[in-house]
Amino acid sequence: MDRIVIEGGRPLKGEVRIGGAKNAALPILASALLTDGWNTFDNVPNLMDVQSIERLLSHLGAVVERGPGEVRINAAGLKNSEAPYDLVRKMRASILVLGPLVARLKKARVSLPGGCAIGARPINIHLKALEEMGATLELKGGYVEAAAPRLRGKELFLDVPTVTGTENILMAAVLAEGRTIIRNAAREPEVSALADTLNRMGGRITGAGTSVITVDGVSSLSPVSTAIIPDRIEAGTFMVAAALTRGDVLLKGCDPAHQGALMDKLLMVGAKIQVEEGGIRVRGGDTIASVDVKTLPYPGFPTDMQAQFMVLMSVAKGLSVISETIFENRFIHVSELRRLGADIIVSGNTAAIKGVPALSGAPVMATDLRASASLVLAGLIAKGTTVVNRVYHLDRGYEKMEEKFARLGAAIKRIRD
Ligand code: EPU
Repeated sequence: MDRIVIEGGRPLKGEVRIGGAKNAALPILASALLTDGWNTFDNVPNLMDVQSIERLLSHLGAVVERGPGEVRINAAGLKNSEAPYDLVRKMRASILVLGPLVARLKKARVSLPGGCAIGARPINIHLKALEEMGATLELKGGYVEAAAPRLRGKELFLDVPTVTGTENILMAAVLAEGRTIIRNAAREPEVSALADTLNRMGGRITGAGTSVITVDGVSSLSPVSTAIIPDRIEAGTFMVAAALTRGDVLLKGCDPAHQGALMDKLLMVGAKIQVEEGGIRVRGGDTIASVDVKTLPYPGFPTDMQAQFMVLMSVAKGLSVISETIFENRFIHVSELRRLGADIIVSGNTAAIKGVPALSGAPVMATDLRASASLVLAGLIAKGTTVVNRVYHLDRGYEKMEEKFARLGAAIKRIRD
C-alpha cells in the first residue's frame, strides 16, 4: 500500500482549491436512481468512496460515465434491487441506495453494513422510518430485505439526527404518497444539498437545513444537472493545517457559511481568519492557545474535524479537553499521536491534551479516514520524518492531498507500492 512521507517544519503558504464534498456527492449520486434519464453532476471529487458508489450504481443497472470532475448517470435501466456484501463492506455509505431502491423498485435487498473503526454505527433509525412508511422489512443472512408496494408519508421522529438516515428517508419520502414530516432531522449542509437536488428533480421538500423537514410526495422525478457543494471537511483540514504550521493559506472555492464552529475555535486558538472574495484566508498566530471542543451535530463542531483539531491542541499552550459525542470510538489517532510525542490521556469519550513544545517524526498508521488526515497534519509540524502508512484510508476522502500540501510548500511525497 502507498505511504506518505513528510519532513515536518515548513509553514504552508499560498492558495489551495477545495474540491466537491464526498458526503454530499454520495447521496446525490444515489438520488439519480430516482429518475430515468441522464443526470449530470459537476464538481464531483474523484475519490475511492465516490468510485465505490459509482460501481454500486452500475451494478444496480444504471449507466455511469465519468469525465473530468463530472459524473453522468442514467438509471432508466435500473433493474437490480440488490446491493451485495462485497460492495457494501467497502463503504458503509452504500446504505444510501436503500431509500431510492424502495421508492423506485418497491423493493430492495441491501447488505447490512457492519461496524467500523469508529463505532458500531447501526442503521436502526433508517429501518424504523421505512417501516413506519409502510415497508415490510426482514433481516436475513446479513441482508435487509425490504418490500414496499406502497410507501405512505408519515410523521417521523428520529432518535438521533442521523445524516445518512435523514438522506435515506428523504429519497424514500420524495416518491411516497402524501406528506412526510421528519422531526429531529439532521441539519448538515450535505442534507440540504440533497434536498436541493431532489427539488430540482421535481420534489417538494421544505425545511431542509432545519430539524423539521416536510416532504410532499410526487409521482415521478426528472433528471437534473447540478453541482456538488464544496467539501467543508477538506476545507477545515487545510484551515487547521494553516494554523498549525503558522502559515498563510487562501482556501478557494469553499463556503465560509459552513465553517462557523471551526472558525470560532480557530479564532480562540489565535489564528487570523479573513473571509475574502471567493475564499477564506487563514494565518497562524504566533502562539497556539488551548481551547476545549465538544463534537456535536451541525451546526456544532464536526466529529469529522475532531482528530485534526486534536493535533493542533497537541502543540498548544496549556491543557485542552476534547469530547467526542457522536461516535463511541473515534480516538484511534490518539495512540499514533502519542508515538509522535503528543501528551494525551483518554477516558471514555473525553481526551485531555497537554500541549508539548514539539512533535517528532515516526512511522504511523490509522484505520480511519479522518484519523489518517490528522497524522498527515502532525507530520507537517513534527521534527524529522513522518511516514503515514495505509494511505488507502486517506484516498477514500481526500483528492490528491499530498499534492495540495506540496504546492503550499510542504516537504511531502507519496511512495507508491
Ligand atoms: N445512529 C444510530 N442509528 C442509526 C443511525 C445512526 O444509532 O440508524 C448513530 C450512530 O451510531 C452515530 C450517530 O447516530 O453514533 C450519528 O451517525 P450518523 O448516522 O449521523 O452518521 P452517518 O450518516 O453514518 C455521516 C458521514 C460521516 C460523519 C457522520 C456524522 C456520510 C457518508 N458519512 O455518517 O462521515 O462522521 O455523518 O457527521 O455522510 C467521514 O466522512 O469521515 C465520515 C465518517
